[in-house]
Amino acid sequence: MNTFTLLLAAASAVSAHYTLPIVNGAPAWTAVRQAKNWQNNGFVGDVTSSDIRCNQLNPGNETVTVAAGSNVKVNVNPNAYHPGPFQSYLAKVPEGQDVNTWDPTGAVWFRIYAEQPKFGSSLTWLSAANYDIKIPSCIAPGKYLMRNEQIALHVAQSSGGAQFYLSCAQIEVTGGGSKAATDLVAFPGAYKASDPGILININYPVPTSYTNPGPATFTC
Ligand SMILES: *[C@@H]1O[C@H](CO)[C@@H](O)[C@H](O)[C@H]1NC(C)=O
Repeated sequence: MNTFTLLLAAASAVSAHYTLPIVNGAPAWTAVRQAKNWQNNGFVGDVTSSDIRCNQLNPGNETVTVAAGSNVKVNVNPNAYHPGPFQSYLAKVPEGQDVNTWDPTGAVWFRIYAEQPKFGSSLTWLSAANYDIKIPSCIAPGKYLMRNEQIALHVAQSSGGAQFYLSCAQIEVTGGGSKAATDLVAFPGAYKASDPGILININYPVPTSYTNPGPATFTC
């Protein structure tokens, strides 16, 4: 083992991971529904668990307003340091429902962002503390839940090894258009443990392509 390999082994042995507690600078766990991992920074490992929806512990109590076509800044605390894609989904809060408490079950989610790695002698991901996610310019105005996740793939070569770090933010979209969402999916339901972007050895042989799990990404 060389020093680099030892460092990698030490990093993956760390049990504390990360959370996604903040959007657009709102105080932690206000415009983001407080997640079950808020203290232990843990992950969801079972894609069939209801925790894959929002990993929710408590309702939200704030909403951030964002113009359609502009970005939401999603903060990862401290940093999405495990390799893997960041993905974002939206679900429109139905008329008459409370953005703080609506439970987004069923096929209500459409994907708006799916990170692809850079390919080379290893896969390179953003692995950032902040992700700027563009809200499509053509969607209808109104309140939405925004499900943000980072899927850590460092031990994803065995089934159930991928680690899902996620939370659901509460946003109000202004402006926009009237294009209907497409390719709606449910959580759980959207992912299978055997999906090629979830059950994958990213280390050897180093992949030359990556198939994001989930539906097609919505475009205007
Ligand atoms: C909002 O929710 C968070 C997390 O549950 C809580 O810590 C905070 O006290 C709440 N704020 C208000 C104003 O209710």
